[in-house]
Amino acid sequence: MTIKTQHAIGIFDSGIGGTSIWKEIHALLPNENTIYLADSINAPYGEKTKSEIIELCIKNTEFLLKKNCKIIVVACNTATTNAIGYLRKNYTVPFIGIEPAIKPASLTTQSNCIGILATKGTLNSDLFEKTSSKIGSNIEIVEQVGEGLVELIEEGKIDSKKMDILLKKYTDPMLKKGIDCLVLGCTHYPYLIPKLKKIVGNTVKIIDSGEAVARQTKAILEKNHLIQIENNNPNYQFFSNKNTTVLKNILADYKKASVKYLDF
Ligand code: DGL
Repeated sequence: MTIKTQHAIGIFDSGIGGTSIWKEIHALLPNENTIYLADSINAPYGEKTKSEIIELCIKNTEFLLKKNCKIIVVACNTATTNAIGYLRKNYTVPFIGIEPAIKPASLTTQSNCIGILATKGTLNSDLFEKTSSKIGSNIEIVEQVGEGLVELIEEGKIDSKKMDILLKKYTDPMLKKGIDCLVLGCTHYPYLIPKLKKIVGNTVKIIDSGEAVARQTKAILEKNHLIQIENNNPNYQFFSNKNTTVLKNILADYKKASVKYLDF
């Protein structure tokens, strides 16, 4: 099958968090058709083993390839850090991944101390280990597993007492160590930025990789001559294998987004 410019950008995540990446991609590439897969029934990926994560990524990739996607964005740090090597080795479609932005944070920090909030699966991955080992030894990286955060976001409980308690519990030790940058190493977490800003204050810069992923997606499409320059009627399809209410709420501002339940 020939890949055509009008074929969609495929995007998947363990759930609804990757919509934070979809929003960046859509803002930069509004003419592109997109197909988003929220594997919410299997969230959180962060508590699974590497081989379980790879299996789920294969399933998501096969689904998007059946829909003729021209590029696949792995909009999940946990999936990227555990499975992107496997995916790139076994499929010819280009993959864009997302990794915690500790390198940009290391270039920004003045206090030489950066915090990272991510899933267990990301922080324990070989890829994260490799990336963090390249950061200068003068910079301290304070790692924190965001246990329970993905589950609360998936349940639509961002504005809950439980969320406030967890965020405070996770950021307090980082603040005590003197971080001035907080890296969000999970695509669900940008939805916590308003809350986090209130908790960490304005001396701590919150850094996530969403915009960089959108720019990289654009660059790879351009390189492969697959950019959709004109499109009078782009379509944005979203599929979730769990209750779609929270996904619909998160996309409420995007009138053209079609959100469907699918048992994939
Ligand atoms: N959005 C996923 C990530 O970026 C969440 C991981 C999970 O499901 O635990 O890592």
